[in-house]
Amino acid sequence: MSIVDEETMLTSQSTEELYREHMLPTYAPWMTLVRGDGCYVWDADGNRYLDLVGGIAVNTLGHAHPAIQEAIVNQAGRLMHVSNLFYNEPQAQLAAELSRVAGGGWCSFFCNSGAEANEGLIKLARRWGGGTRFEVITLKQSFHGRTLATLTATGQDKVKVGFDPLPAGFIHVEAGSIEALKAAVSDRTAAVLLEVVQGEGGVRPMPHEYLRAVRALCDERGLLLLFDEVQTGMGRTGHWFAWQGAGVQPDAFSLAKGLGGGIPIGAVMVKAALRDVLSVGSHATTFGGNPLCSSVALSVLRTIEKEGILEHVQREGAWFREQLTALKARCACIREVRGVGFMIGVELDRPVAPILAELRRRGLLLLPAGERVLRMVPALVLRHEQISESLEMLESVLAPLGADGL
Ligand SMILES: Cc1ncc(COP(=O)(O)O)c(C=O)c1O
Repeated sequence: MSIVDEETMLTSQSTEELYREHMLPTYAPWMTLVRGDGCYVWDADGNRYLDLVGGIAVNTLGHAHPAIQEAIVNQAGRLMHVSNLFYNEPQAQLAAELSRVAGGGWCSFFCNSGAEANEGLIKLARRWGGGTRFEVITLKQSFHGRTLATLTATGQDKVKVGFDPLPAGFIHVEAGSIEALKAAVSDRTAAVLLEVVQGEGGVRPMPHEYLRAVRALCDERGLLLLFDEVQTGMGRTGHWFAWQGAGVQPDAFSLAKGLGGGIPIGAVMVKAALRDVLSVGSHATTFGGNPLCSSVALSVLRTIEKEGILEHVQREGAWFREQLTALKARCACIREVRGVGFMIGVELDRPVAPILAELRRRGLLLLPAGERVLRMVPALVLRHEQISESLEMLESVLAPLGADGL
């Protein structure tokens, strides 16, 4: 049995049975996990797994990190939630720290998830456009969330099935083509929204020259440039924010996932010059930036800084990709290795689902990005020897496979 002890169990049914009976079937979970420590997790039978899923790019500091435990305990015993009718100290500190690590001159709005942060960006663009400029241009293969506006912004049809009519005002263009983007801009355009590294769409880093050209086009046509840093933010790419690595600054960007290291918190980060676009009463959310999640996010940010985690991600992420590229020579099924920092994709010549299942049987957790890409978005504290361990397991599964499904 897990940490749920006998007395607190409501029923003798298994977790899987309870899910089948009482949960909406929107997910198809692989297994029940009951405990984690650093980059390892354990299932209910005591089997250990090396976790390169990291809660889908969320568990920045790994599982059960003492800094996060301490922040939760201290803040929960002091003041957990008061609403945004009141100032709260951790929220103010967090906004100041985020502005500092983004280079200064940024204002925050805190929310609860990535989709909600992107909704904030879209609302910012529409208010800024003043009613005449309302269109947001996004990229094909992008992923921006599952609310109605963000799934419409998403450049993949599969998330839209059955949800018509979708909100108006979104246009999708080919990723990487500045010509396609230019052709889509009109006097209705308010903003361009993109991921600096597409995550769900297959781990596809946008070329820096493309990002520079998009910035120049936005300046020339007077558009807002919005980056979705929900997956790439908070050190994932070896920089606080992926745009810093690309040397291209947006007008606003979204954060979530890694920001709270496992506590739900998102942020809309806006250049100070645009601070008044979302004025009093124009946007709100009950839980956003409450003392608990803000103080956990602060402890995550400070631990990243204190422990030199950005440098670790740059160094170890480069080594990981190098080793995977070397593995390509020994595994005929590997088509391409892509990524930045600890956001890595390995494209295969076949569907990855059965390979992910075999890796799980051997004790390694990875996730897919689309049908044919193995994705690794581990905790940023993943150690060198754990990378070696995962490489050995990957090779043992991939090397025996021939090319093209043989
Ligand atoms: C780039 C990007 N944007 C937005 C989202 C949506 O975030 P959430 O699931 O927290 O709403 C995700 C989630 O995977 C994402 O990867």
